[in-house]
Amino acid sequence: MEVQVIQGSIQEQTADTLIVNLFEGVTIPSGATGAVDKALNGAISELIANGDISGKAGEVGVVYPRGLIPAKRVLIAGLGKRDDFNLEGVRQAAAAAILRARELNAKAVASIVHGTGIAGLPIRLAAQATAEGTLLALYRFAAAKEQEPQNEIVSFTIVEFDESKVAEMKGGVDTAVAIAAGNALARDLVNMPPNVATPTRLAQAAQEIAEAHNLKITVGGRKWAAKHNMGAFLAVAKGAGEPPKFIVLEHNADRDDLDTIVLVGKGITFDTGGISIKPTQGMGKMKSDMGGAAAVLGAMKTAAMLDLPLRLIGIAPCTENMPDADAYRPADVITASNGKTIEIISTDAEGRMVLADGLVYAKQYEPKAVIDLATLTGACVIALGEGVAAGLFSTDEALQNKMVAAGKATHERVWPLPLWDDYLKIIKSDVADMQNAGGRFGGVGTSAIFLKQFTDYPWMHLDIAGVALTEKGRGYVPAGGTGFGVRLLVEFLLAW
Ligand code: BES
Ligand code: MN
Ligand code: ZN
Repeated sequence: MEVQVIQGSIQEQTADTLIVNLFEGVTIPSGATGAVDKALNGAISELIANGDISGKAGEVGVVYPRGLIPAKRVLIAGLGKRDDFNLEGVRQAAAAAILRARELNAKAVASIVHGTGIAGLPIRLAAQATAEGTLLALYRFAAAKEQEPQNEIVSFTIVEFDESKVAEMKGGVDTAVAIAAGNALARDLVNMPPNVATPTRLAQAAQEIAEAHNLKITVGGRKWAAKHNMGAFLAVAKGAGEPPKFIVLEHNADRDDLDTIVLVGKGITFDTGGISIKPTQGMGKMKSDMGGAAAVLGAMKTAAMLDLPLRLIGIAPCTENMPDADAYRPADVITASNGKTIEIISTDAEGRMVLADGLVYAKQYEPKAVIDLATLTGACVIALGEGVAAGLFSTDEALQNKMVAAGKATHERVWPLPLWDDYLKIIKSDVADMQNAGGRFGGVGTSAIFLKQFTDYPWMHLDIAGVALTEKGRGYVPAGGTGFGVRLLVEFLLAW
């Protein structure tokens, strides 16, 4: 789809579909909506007066101009109450309107930016949010099945009357386009079936990013990992039929004048639990257990597209976790690449194993911050709920505050949880430096304190188990992989 920003009057556009907006409680629209209302001889005011539309959030009214202006239809997106209106409201309004436009078989859509009028949101951010809500909502996964032909919108034009705002709006829209591309990649990788989104396929996705944007790439297999003493990563990979891949992407690899940030994503392309096998019920959801790796690849793509002034490293240890004659077992003692030994209690606590070697590998870059993302524990889902927020653990308060702010700005929310040493006692082992799992209680805390043993730099862990996949679509997040983490990380990196 073609996305652009132009100076002009929305009511004069030749697009087949126009999008304007309305706050709850407004009876006579002003601004761009008012201009369209006038051109339509008060058709919008009439809808309001008759109670057909009220401007409440999520509402999309439709008016048919019948020749009074070039467009075939005008959609009026409800913005809700003016008081608590914010960028998330912009994204939601844009999403509701564009989805309605697609349903109505719109091809060319022209829209105003939501929130820059009486709401007074920053112009650049409002334009970014309008484009982001639009692009994220239009995402569809190309599933392998026969389908009825579906309508695709071919162009989306943001129209601004005030010439002086256009340049800033363009900046915001460019950012949105890059973010939506990274997010779509992450969603695609999660949505692919696990026999397709193999470690090899993830490495191919990384290779494509590297080639398109000139990033340095390393893809290590079993031998490479053995040479790096990655016993924890290899333990999980031992039972895998698919070859494991340890992926490293580097943006601005050779720049020693820039701050270095390392992203690490859990890349379990399917988690059966291994010998500690999971119950049948819902096991298919474990195709999303590479959601962390997908978010890291998506964020690397966006960061490269925006050419962020950072030395940014993306690490994704990828493997299946399968039961097999060769699989690692409970009671095995494994040595990670930093020399620490791990007693296996459950082979289903495999994410922290692959992350352990990923986190140790991050150290060589002398990072200012290392952030890992992982669909790590069911306990985090129990604690925070499904589709609500990621659990956040950090050894660095400033880092934590920055991520909480990024969570608020993007509505990819994170919630801080404690890293107390009490959790370390729970995973104390008699035969190794630690166990890979504790008991039933405090499962998210014990997973995080385990990871901490492999870090010695400012570090943050995000448990995205509850937010990587959604069964029901909502707003600009259709059902399936959410791409959670891409928008959050990019916001964090942009603000760095
Ligand atoms: N991939 C799972 C965690 C998970 C659960 C992700 C639900 C998404 C939704 C992880 O590898 C796992 O199996 N964790 C175990 C850890 C336990 C064995 C210590 C869990 O949470 O039960
Ligand atoms: Mn598991
Ligand atoms: Zn897992």
